[in-house]
Amino acid sequence: MTKSENVVWEKPAVSRDQRQTQNGHRSFVVWFTGLSGSGKSTLANAVESQLHAMGCRTFVFDGDNVRHGLCGDLGFSEEDRKENIRRIAEMTRLFIEAGVIALTAFISPYRADRQKVRDLIPEGELVEVYCDCSLETCEQRDVKGLYKKARAGLIKNYTGVSSPYEVPENPEVVVDTDVLSIEEGAATILGYLKERGFIQSS
Ligand code: ADX
Repeated sequence: MTKSENVVWEKPAVSRDQRQTQNGHRSFVVWFTGLSGSGKSTLANAVESQLHAMGCRTFVFDGDNVRHGLCGDLGFSEEDRKENIRRIAEMTRLFIEAGVIALTAFISPYRADRQKVRDLIPEGELVEVYCDCSLETCEQRDVKGLYKKARAGLIKNYTGVSSPYEVPENPEVVVDTDVLSIEEGAATILGYLKERGFIQSS
């Protein structure tokens, strides 16, 4: 997978354990997946705000934002989405090493790509959150007006319209964003994180 030859793995002077101890919490990834408009970014930001208020070191990676920079060379073909998710997975792995709680908001429509994320992140340190929202609701919301454009044939390969979304089979958390409020959704996720010892329940 790597083109670089003659590279070695340098051992960092400060370990991940030392960083976690200094931060006072574990580091892990909360990976949101779901259709465009299903509430991934909103929920990721709501959960981050609460974690931040608790004193945790956090960072949100958002599909639309990352596609302006790190993944600005990628489009929405199956190959490009795969590469998009691969890069983000590698980034979140580095953030875990840095002792940070990484939250990601990418459609990540393909099961195989999400499985690769799972294979890359250390065991037990990935919380996959499926934002379960019907296509009808996402389309009604159409916050960015992109579903309308996709239906009109102005955008190709639009997830849910002309490109598939493969529903997760065993996500750690499912949030029914069709009916739950943002507060309720965030509480569901934080409840899971506390219950499973990812964060302290105080
Ligand atoms: S992913 O499939 O590779 O995970 P990502 O989450 O980065 O997608 O980007 C999705 C965002 O890009 C959507 O929220 C939407 O605003 C925008 N977008 C533009 N074109 C498309 C498209 N063809 N399919 C899906 N989203 C698109």
